[in-house]
Amino acid sequence: MTRSEPRLQAKLLRWLLGPLLALLVLDTAATYWTSSNFSNLAHDRSLQEIAREVVLHVKPNGAGPRLDLSPAAERILLVDQDDRLFIKITSAAGTVIGGDPDIAPPPADPARHGKPVSYDSVLHGLPVRVTAAWLPYEEGPQSPSVLVQVAETLNKRQRLAWDIMATAMVPQLLLVLLATAAVYLGVRHGLAPLSRLGRDVARRSHVDLSPIDASRVPGEVRPLVDEVNELMLRLGKTLDFQSRFIADAAHQLKTPVSGLKAQIELALREAEPQRLHHSLAQLYVGVDRLSRLVQQLLALARNEPGAIDAVQMQSLDLDVLALETSMEWVPQALRHGVDLGFEGGEGPLMITADADRLRELINNLIDNAVRYSRRGGRVTVATRRSADGAAELSISDDGPSIPVAERKRIFERFHRLLGTHADGSGLGLAIVSEIATLHGARINLEEDVDGVGNTFSVHFPPPPRPAP
Ligand SMILES: Nc1ncnc2c1ncn2[C@@H]1O[C@H](COP(=O)(O)OP(=O)(O)O)[C@@H](O)[C@H]1O
Ligand SMILES: [Mg+2]
Repeated sequence: MTRSEPRLQAKLLRWLLGPLLALLVLDTAATYWTSSNFSNLAHDRSLQEIAREVVLHVKPNGAGPRLDLSPAAERILLVDQDDRLFIKITSAAGTVIGGDPDIAPPPADPARHGKPVSYDSVLHGLPVRVTAAWLPYEEGPQSPSVLVQVAETLNKRQRLAWDIMATAMVPQLLLVLLATAAVYLGVRHGLAPLSRLGRDVARRSHVDLSPIDASRVPGEVRPLVDEVNELMLRLGKTLDFQSRFIADAAHQLKTPVSGLKAQIELALREAEPQRLHHSLAQLYVGVDRLSRLVQQLLALARNEPGAIDAVQMQSLDLDVLALETSMEWVPQALRHGVDLGFEGGEGPLMITADADRLRELINNLIDNAVRYSRRGGRVTVATRRSADGAAELSISDDGPSIPVAERKRIFERFHRLLGTHADGSGLGLAIVSEIATLHGARINLEEDVDGVGNTFSVHFPPPPRPAP
């Protein structure tokens, strides 16, 4: 297994748990903000209480007010277990009449007889929360006021905020843990069929091409499994075909080889030079036939789709190539008493093809026409351009017509018509068909127009239309 792609399970977990954790962080921040607000609200109120207590100790004194706070009263008001408390009293005239003058003035002056204001500040290097209010220090509606500021360090507030947050967070953390466990188990359970599928395939033997059981895989994976099954089916057919072909080929080779062996044994026993020579001549014919069979087998392997031998396509003139190839057959045709003719020459017929392979195709067709047509017969090689501009090549003879029922089968490997006595392997037309496929060409076999003989025609793909 390649490790470049992370496993699906890890990927799913990351995508599910990542956002969940991000949500938890956001939620924690929000909870902290809310709980500090609550904590501040509660403690600001008690600072206001203290301010109201403190103002009771402010007395009128001639020109202005005066703070009269006994140490005992101060201890009761300002001493706290957890935090340090400070006060500052300022008269309406702006004079500090008591407490710690370092407490910063409020950012906005609280309205006289209005609501108190609370704000964060720093005092003697400590972070503090301050509440400021204008409070009357005499009875009656017209009483003058003083500005009372009460400052307190933050220990209690922070502790309360944390306490609130902890109480709120515990169930949420638990929820996230449970969700994580549920997601993990869910993903594992969901992916279990895939792991099972992997194990099933890994356990198979290399010759077992039976389809994979697709009934237990999830719907998303089913098309993949179907495709793999389809591929295995094709692979199975190809393997079958190949092993049958090897068996056939071995069988085809066995007969001539045993024949040669017998002939050699006979020749070895021959003492008379003339008869020995005769035996050797016969041996030569046998070896020649065998060599042709081996050549045809090689040609078949070389032209198989996907064969290692690269196809070398080039632009060439079919008319010229067909004429050249036909000329090479003239002596052979004469020997068979066959009149070999060529029709064409209507100008160049350019096609894209592998010249060697195309020559092999034409050779096989002319060979058949010459070999199987009657003595004194006529074989015509013709090239022309069809109506759609595509190039066509045909080889016609006037020998016995191939029965309609056999017209497909003669293109199969090793298939020969019953009663064909001439030498041959049954591979020629299979090679022709392979080469045509390599060129995207189509082969037709028709009875000759006059009802006598056969015409094999090869239709090349039409040239690409010039762009408008
Ligand atoms: N032009 C033809 N006329 C008559 N029969 C033919 C012709 N071409 C092919 N055949 C028949 O088709 C068979 C298969 O041909 P081919 O594949 O070339 O194999 P081979 O020539 O080695 O027998 C031949 O054995 C022959 O019976
Ligand atoms: Mg042949």
